[in-house]
Amino acid sequence: MQHFEAQAQDLAGLAARGRERRLISREGADFASNDYLGLANSPLLRAAVEAALARGVPIGSGGSRLLRGNHPEHEALEAEAAAYFGRESALYFSSGYAANAALLATLPQRGDLVLFDALVHASAHEGMRLGRAEIRQAAHNDVGAFADAIAGWRRDGGTGRVWIAVESLYSMDGDVAPLAALAALAEAEGAILLVDEAHATGIYGPQGQGLAYGLPTANLITLHTCGKALGCEGALITGPAIVRDFLVNRGRAFIFSTAPSPLMAAAVRAALRIVAASDALRTGLFERIAMARHALGPLGVSAGETQILPLILGDDVRTMAIAGALQESGFDVRGIRPPTVPAGTSRLRISITNNVSHADIAALAERLATLIPATEPIAA
Ligand SMILES: Cc1ncc(COP(=O)(O)O)c(C=O)c1O
Repeated sequence: MQHFEAQAQDLAGLAARGRERRLISREGADFASNDYLGLANSPLLRAAVEAALARGVPIGSGGSRLLRGNHPEHEALEAEAAAYFGRESALYFSSGYAANAALLATLPQRGDLVLFDALVHASAHEGMRLGRAEIRQAAHNDVGAFADAIAGWRRDGGTGRVWIAVESLYSMDGDVAPLAALAALAEAEGAILLVDEAHATGIYGPQGQGLAYGLPTANLITLHTCGKALGCEGALITGPAIVRDFLVNRGRAFIFSTAPSPLMAAAVRAALRIVAASDALRTGLFERIAMARHALGPLGVSAGETQILPLILGDDVRTMAIAGALQESGFDVRGIRPPTVPAGTSRLRISITNNVSHADIAALAERLATLIPATEPIAA
């Protein structure tokens, strides 16, 4: 223990503040995963993986894409993804975290500004930390604040390119960005708009292409994680061809890392075909969302329309106690605490997926009603 005193102290501090994290097993009805369409263990995807194995697709890539790791499955996926998302190019990464970090660390240059929404994901922060551009924060979903920040930066002498980094659907709040207005601002400022579609891909847009689908594309880069509604793993960055070329040449997380599994690339390609063709999967999810919002709204879930329903309770310890009580009753609902969310906004993050039935949702609402009255939800 003596070698790890600092770490032990840190953990004790987290425990004292009710913020220690533990790995718990997946049990109970799924109100926690991002497997929104229920694809991760679906017969459709299993069959696609079996078919890929049968035609000899390897499990391991054997090296970086720039060495021997580049497999026809990666390129086939990227070509199909570019067509599906209506973009010139796509590049597949082994995780959304790596892709987002690479994007923000690599593309913005010294002298540029990255202006990010206050609620962007940790992976975007990782990239900004590694990058050379100046970074400034704008209030969440406040287009006026973005415009003011750009004007302020120019007044301070900023002359480079502006990069606007947002999510289309925020992972812990379930609200949606004003993408059309942000795109118009980006256009007016000669800025580049980076949209992380992690929680929208597969669900929103005409065939699940995401919420940014249909925006002007010349200055648009989107990130589509494959481990959420697509039920697989990895992430696709889509945009103008130069973005792909630049990341292949300069993206350290791409260059100095073993290429993702070709088998997973095959699975993602199958998942894209499935979601493109399956309005029924989306309809099934939208029906569950409507029902959940109706049943859980009166209990204090934040207003909104998406599959992520936050119930903000504020207090860390109480949040975890209620999540624990739900888990004991067979509902896998997780409590989310700082630093994942701002201090004072600890919450239950209720995620609606096709892995639960309408009866499961009704039962959750009933159980939650017995736990919540003593705990007034607070405004975010
Ligand atoms: C908004 C957002 N971006 C990026 C990521 C990272 O993606 P991945 O889980 O594939 O690493 C996540 C998921 O945790 C996310 O919620």
